[in-house]
Amino acid sequence: MTKFYTTTAIDYVNGAPHIGHAYEKILTDVIYRHFTQRCEDAYFLTGTDEHGIKIQKTAAEKGISPKEFCDMNAQKFKDAWKALDIDYSQFIRTTDEQHEKIVQKIFKKLVEKGDIYKHSYTGLYCSGCEAFLSEKDLTEDGLCPDHQKKPEVVEEENYFFKLTKYKDAIIKHIKTNPDFIVPSFRANEVINQLEDIEDISVSRVKTNVNWGIPVLDDPEQVIYVWIDALSNYITAIGYDPDGNSDKFEKLWPADVQVIGKDILKFHSIYWIAILMALELPLPKHILAHGWITIDQTKMSKSLGNVISPTAVLEAFNLDIPDPLRYYMASAAPCGKDGNYSDEDFKEKVNAHLANSMGNLLNRTLSMLVKYFDGDIKPEFLNKNELEKQALETVKAVKHHFDYFEVQEAAQKIIELVDITNKYVTDNAPWTLAKEEKMDKCGEVLTNVLQVMTVISSLIYPYCPNIASRMAEQLGYDLDIKLDDINCRYLKAGHLINKDDIKPVFLRMDSELADKKK
Ligand code: MSP
Repeated sequence: MTKFYTTTAIDYVNGAPHIGHAYEKILTDVIYRHFTQRCEDAYFLTGTDEHGIKIQKTAAEKGISPKEFCDMNAQKFKDAWKALDIDYSQFIRTTDEQHEKIVQKIFKKLVEKGDIYKHSYTGLYCSGCEAFLSEKDLTEDGLCPDHQKKPEVVEEENYFFKLTKYKDAIIKHIKTNPDFIVPSFRANEVINQLEDIEDISVSRVKTNVNWGIPVLDDPEQVIYVWIDALSNYITAIGYDPDGNSDKFEKLWPADVQVIGKDILKFHSIYWIAILMALELPLPKHILAHGWITIDQTKMSKSLGNVISPTAVLEAFNLDIPDPLRYYMASAAPCGKDGNYSDEDFKEKVNAHLANSMGNLLNRTLSMLVKYFDGDIKPEFLNKNELEKQALETVKAVKHHFDYFEVQEAAQKIIELVDITNKYVTDNAPWTLAKEEKMDKCGEVLTNVLQVMTVISSLIYPYCPNIASRMAEQLGYDLDIKLDDINCRYLKAGHLINKDDIKPVFLRMDSELADKKK
């Protein structure tokens, strides 16, 4: 594998980032960081979706220009991702000049090709979805199922994209590539949606929506959100109908595009049709993640249960985002819904990160200092009884990531931690020391520390700060690629002094953690 290109949905900037947005960015960051450990050129794109009627209206209510409003809120997303250590390679805003220019060219190209045509239309428009809905999309009471709002009847002359032209090709693609939509159980939903699709409106009259990219040769029309938003995945990396950048040639097609299940239709139908019309290769996978609830309740402004990820970090006085990253990344099996609760968060990260993993390293290093002055003697570096298990875990983790099973991979890592803890209990190095079986005692401790180097690499995508604290105490280089991993990177010689042994993560309710408040 030489390159890996991953993207997230770009968030609407009408509000501040919440834990649902954070879930997706964390999930993608974990996937991205895992693949940085497997290939030379991994690239991660995220950003914000800034045009449309909602932004236009909210900015007007606040008495500021839409651009000022977007600038303010886009910054909130950037700040949140920084606090969560989201290591994106690029942050695109759909108001970026370069993006706007290329979107105009894309539109023009599709008009010239005959895939976009002008047509007078009456439709049901949901401003929440920023999309026209058909009667059968609505609930029995005629409401948008996602926004519980009655769509407006809109009559306009718009540009339309010939989605129907690509229907059969999309169905064929989905059927012949069963791993294209992840998880595969969602593929049938998409096929059903495709059965009765119609051409879609891709512009709005400027008098109705003016906060958008004007159509190049028809400035009374504004390019309507989805064609603008979806194109970000290629404009960001240098797609240009007049000649692509080298970066685009290297990175496209995307290896995985991560989105929420609510926008799967736009990505597996609209986006794919646009790419087919542009004669571009299709992304290899579209990962539709599930929805995050709060205490098993859907997050909503009216319920007042919208949680900000940075508020969680502050409430628990966390100096690193790793616990929240770990918790969110393992919140749900691939594609299924997950839940956030304060109690569960605290319990799970205390159990896994502090008690099992952190403590294992801490007590093993402490014993190494107590019995061997912190030295790894060359004779301790014999065959490691745990290596087979460790390498099997690496293989299993890679396999799970090949299918974007981020929670499942985390479980494998914690299983290895548990196996290693059991190995310590079973071999009781403190008893070996008491019985003066020092070689065996040294070997057991060394075996554990060697496995800890592997664990630090595996946990790195979830917990980059904890992993680097672990690696530092183990004298281990986290840059080692997963394909090269084994238990032989722990060097003979002096490893650590008593004062340099630090807990890599303190229990969230511990006295020490409290003192830091
Ligand atoms: N702007 C569009 C996406 C355009 S992509 C070309 C959009 N924005 S959004 O802000 O509403 O959502 C951004 C992402 O966050 C989506 O993938 C959406 O599924 C995800 N989530 C929003 N709320 C969520 C939860 N409660 N739980 C999990 N993900 C959620 O849609």
